[in-house]
Amino acid sequence: MDLMNLDVKGKRVLLRVDYNVALMDGKVAEPKRIEATIPTLRWLLERGAKVIILSHLGRPKGWDQSLSLKPVLETFREISARERLALKSVGLWDRPYPCRELEERVGALGQSEVLFLDNLRFHPGEEKNDLEFARGLARLGDFFVQEAFGAAHRAHASTDALPGLLPSAFGFLVKRELSVLGRLLDKPAHPFVVLLGGFKVSDKIGAIENLLLRGVDKILVGGALAYTFLKANGSNVGKSPVQADWVERVRELMSRPKNAGKILLCRDHAIVRDIKKPGEARVTPDANIENDWMGADVGPKTLTLFGGVLGQAKTIFWNGPVGVMEVAPFDKGSSELARAIAGATQAGALSVLGGGDTIYAVSRAGLDESAYTHISTGGGATLEFLEGKELPGIKAVERRGPFSALV
Ligand code: 3PG
Repeated sequence: MDLMNLDVKGKRVLLRVDYNVALMDGKVAEPKRIEATIPTLRWLLERGAKVIILSHLGRPKGWDQSLSLKPVLETFREISARERLALKSVGLWDRPYPCRELEERVGALGQSEVLFLDNLRFHPGEEKNDLEFARGLARLGDFFVQEAFGAAHRAHASTDALPGLLPSAFGFLVKRELSVLGRLLDKPAHPFVVLLGGFKVSDKIGAIENLLLRGVDKILVGGALAYTFLKANGSNVGKSPVQADWVERVRELMSRPKNAGKILLCRDHAIVRDIKKPGEARVTPDANIENDWMGADVGPKTLTLFGGVLGQAKTIFWNGPVGVMEVAPFDKGSSELARAIAGATQAGALSVLGGGDTIYAVSRAGLDESAYTHISTGGGATLEFLEGKELPGIKAVERRGPFSALV
């Protein structure tokens, strides 16, 4: 069900990508999601496909010029020049669609030319998974290629309805994501250790439960997430953020006999009264945080504990920083753990990292992707995959397949 099954020469290929990237001052701040699609683009363009790129950006309510794909297109141009893609031209359709004029514009595309359609979410039909909107998109292509792993957990018109209307295949990025993430769920080498940080228990609890069911050996919990766990465990968390609605569920999870000893929480913390006064920070003697203080990073005892467990691991998944990354010195915990995971990878462990903040933590640590086995381009999609959920954007392509397009 991959690209290799499609004979794309001279054909119009609708390529759904996830170029939902962070913007800063109107420019792309993190191009990884664009770079990750280059192998598929190279393959298509070298074979003379006419490529129509579909992506969303942010969560616009209607047409919102600040969320146009224009800055993405600029970065795309730079990357394709650097990567020497066999790209003859690239343009942007920045008017409403589908429409007859766009069909004519696409009809006039030459081989190895690329046309971006501006933000899919400018159109209400996209998020409603509207069949008519999907039909309008389908008229623009001969094939559909799903390369938007990061959006595969959304049942939207371009990810769910559209692949049902055209011969469809996965791009190389989606294939790699499915294969590497699949190795985490299917017979991972042990010890299998998961490091979780970031904010929301609600986003991660499903993945935690499924990974525990599937035999993960240790789950290390840091970051803002940890305070809900510590609260459930009876520790004092001061004024650290807690998701009160989730305390009971977390308590129940930790109290299951099968989970005994598997969920490791922080042993100490770097704490502050006010995050804007990092100079006043101090380290707690144990897991408790005094009233009027809040956790900002894991402490040295926690780092020794977590670093030791990661050092022994054969399979590692990491999502979410363990401290307030943007404010030094509270990036220390995440940086040290990023280095511990890189060390374990060098010693032969399979390491998978996910989520934009995690990637930021890696760059703050002075490391890059090559220190790890795989950096997932998915945030929510990666967590839902690990939760064992079916991803609509994957299912739809599997259901339809390449059909008559088989060569
Ligand atoms: C992401 O960044 O996780 C994906 O692009 C999905 O975006 P969404 O959460 O706005 O649907």
